[in-house]
Amino acid sequence: MVKICCIGAGYVGGPTMAVIALKCPAIEVVVVDISEQRIAGWNSKRLPIYEPGLDDVVRQCRGRNLFFSTEVHRHVGDADIVFVSVNTPTKTCGLGAGKAADLTYWESAARMIADVSRSDKIVVEKSTVPVKTAEAIEKILVHNGRGVRYQILSNPEFLAEGTAIQDLFAPDRVLIGGRETPEGRAAVKALKDVYAQWVPDERIITTNLWSAELSKLAANAFLAQRISSVNAISALCEATGADVTQVAHSVGKDARIGPRFLSASVGFGGSCFQKDILNLVYICECYGLPEVAGYWREVIRINDYQKSRFVNRVVSSMFNTVAGKKVAVLGFAFKKDTGDTRETPAIDVCKGLLGDKAVVSIYDPQVTGEQVSRDLAMNKFDWDHPRHLQPLSDTDLAKQVGMAADAYEAARDAHAVCILTEWDEFRSLDYKRMFDAMHKPAFIFDGRNVVDVAKLREIGFVVYSIGKPLDDWLKDMPAVA
Ligand code: NAD
Ligand code: UDX
Repeated sequence: MVKICCIGAGYVGGPTMAVIALKCPAIEVVVVDISEQRIAGWNSKRLPIYEPGLDDVVRQCRGRNLFFSTEVHRHVGDADIVFVSVNTPTKTCGLGAGKAADLTYWESAARMIADVSRSDKIVVEKSTVPVKTAEAIEKILVHNGRGVRYQILSNPEFLAEGTAIQDLFAPDRVLIGGRETPEGRAAVKALKDVYAQWVPDERIITTNLWSAELSKLAANAFLAQRISSVNAISALCEATGADVTQVAHSVGKDARIGPRFLSASVGFGGSCFQKDILNLVYICECYGLPEVAGYWREVIRINDYQKSRFVNRVVSSMFNTVAGKKVAVLGFAFKKDTGDTRETPAIDVCKGLLGDKAVVSIYDPQVTGEQVSRDLAMNKFDWDHPRHLQPLSDTDLAKQVGMAADAYEAARDAHAVCILTEWDEFRSLDYKRMFDAMHKPAFIFDGRNVVDVAKLREIGFVVYSIGKPLDDWLKDMPAVA
């Protein structure tokens, strides 16, 4: 029986390995992590991450050929194939701070593999890493290897949160990069054989190591660039009276462009896009390509602009002050169908409103008050460096933030509602009921284009929806930067 061990039981390691175990009953899959809490979660009824369809997959194979354990050394030592799916956040200090990938977790995983291995292994980069990381990892393994032979493969993950199981069941492609030597090709084949259990041959791409590593960064940069493009156009739509939904539809009808990933929003979030583009920018700078670095940096700049533009719109519409006013925030996760809040635009928007002394009441079906409190207490990039954290409760800000049990409670006595995540339930709320319970004029700022603008205007709301023609009310307000 082939034995797989995955280091890192997070948003990628957990679902990816669960699907491999489901599709390959002849393979034993063990997912290990240094976090006892995470492993306990994976072994419990309440999994540590919310992902539609995941419970079902885990239920079918946990205890059969899927195991979660904190016995990292034992399982790594026993494995034939070791996936490394640890976090690779943005560095917060030292050389490349605020841009470069922090490879501390990766390096310590590699050193540990070298320490405990007694048999030859295929080591698979599942984490998103800077191009050429495989070379560094190879050096660590070989120099500490005591005769054990390693083959390093790059097998980046393309799943998106909220649709992870669907994406893993039917991936657009699986990418495997390896050394172009007989041993490298044999390792690529061994990993390909695993995916071939359920992924059609034409969807499994094999490349050299550096192409695989760079393809992952490039894919995320291209995806994020589409969002920044449509968001940049959304600002122009508001200025001209065009409607971004209509523009995106017309543009996306061109088969060369395609319709997906063109929804204007309050900004993209999530643990990957910003981190990976900053990493790409850093790599370009290191290779002496400042123009290329500058091109990709703009994608982030537009995203930051979009978030601050939204906050400015809220504040300027409400007579240029939200001090002491209750603002309902509907949705805190970075997208629907996940409880993940890493880099969610809601953090920047809430911080902006709190900075203007608003009182925010937050409702999200999957995010706890404790999580919100942690997120609002953090500095940029600190979410993966918990040692820097101070509880929000220790600050004055805590008095300005509250959690609500539902959207109606959040909106009661509020002056405004901000929709920051596109949860389906926000499309069918009883907005008349919310309107009746709010101060007048009652405002809705829709950062996800989920509401029916005409209907809400009929109810009496002043409505702002990203990239849509502005209410007369908003036109009269001073221009926002
Ligand atoms: P995560 O933070 O959810 O999980 C990483 C896990 O690794 C944590 O549980 C941590 O405790 C564990 N870990 C760290 N060092 C360890 C060590 N030495 N030994 C054992 N466990 C260790 O991160 P994630 O979202 O799963 O992302 C993992 C990687 O995958 C990142 O490089 C990310 O960029 C990439 N990625 C993420 C996504 C996504 O949607 N989240 C998608 C594609 C790729
Ligand atoms: C992304 C990539 O899609 C995935 O391939 C990669 O493996 C990890 O990073 P993820 O961040 O989980 O996945 O979700 P994604 O669906 O890409 O959304 C990212 C952000 O962009 C979210 O905040 C989402 O709301 C936003 N978004 C997405 C838009 O604002 N408009 C869109 O049209 C699409």
